[in-house]
Amino acid sequence: MAKILILYISATGNTEMMAEAIAGYLEYKNHEVVIKTFDFDPIDVEELLDYDLVLIGTHSNDDGEIPFEAEDFYDELDEVNLKDRLFGVFGSGDTAYDEFCLSVDLMGDKLEHIGAKLVPIRLKVDLTPANEDMERCDAFAETAVQMV
Ligand SMILES: Cc1cc2nc3c(=O)[nH]c(=O)nc-3n(C[C@H](O)[C@H](O)[C@H](O)COP(=O)(O)O)c2cc1C
Repeated sequence: MAKILILYISATGNTEMMAEAIAGYLEYKNHEVVIKTFDFDPIDVEELLDYDLVLIGTHSNDDGEIPFEAEDFYDELDEVNLKDRLFGVFGSGDTAYDEFCLSVDLMGDKLEHIGAKLVPIRLKVDLTPANEDMERCDAFAETAVQMV
């Protein structure tokens, strides 16, 4: 059984739906899942070391910039040694924008830059997840947990 943190930010609920689908799949597979949000739960980057896998979800509501609620976390990622720790990134965006799900990529790039191991799928959904996107959430969760 893996100990997994799902940490996300969602303004209109789309990324939240993804987080809940991913959590539901992992709980169904008997893993221990803790869910936190950037806007309501205090997050200490040191805490990331307590988990076998950390999945980070972010919308891209500020023209793709990291949402302000997650900015401190993003900046502080350098302050803890996350080399070879396992992370995955996901989120909802809107393909009408030039930079589709840019925040997901910024978060993934930063994690790779500091030496974390990244789940090879960066899960990006266009607006509200459809049924097939929910299946992609399951596949993402399965791929991630297989890497633990
Ligand atoms: C002001 C604004 C700017 C946005 N900029 C982007 C963007 O650059 N890239 C993108 O993929 N989506 C962009 N979006 C779309 C949101 O990311 C999209 O609606 C997403 O589904 C919101 O996810 P949430 O429901 O988890 O908050 C933007 C939305 C708003 C309101």
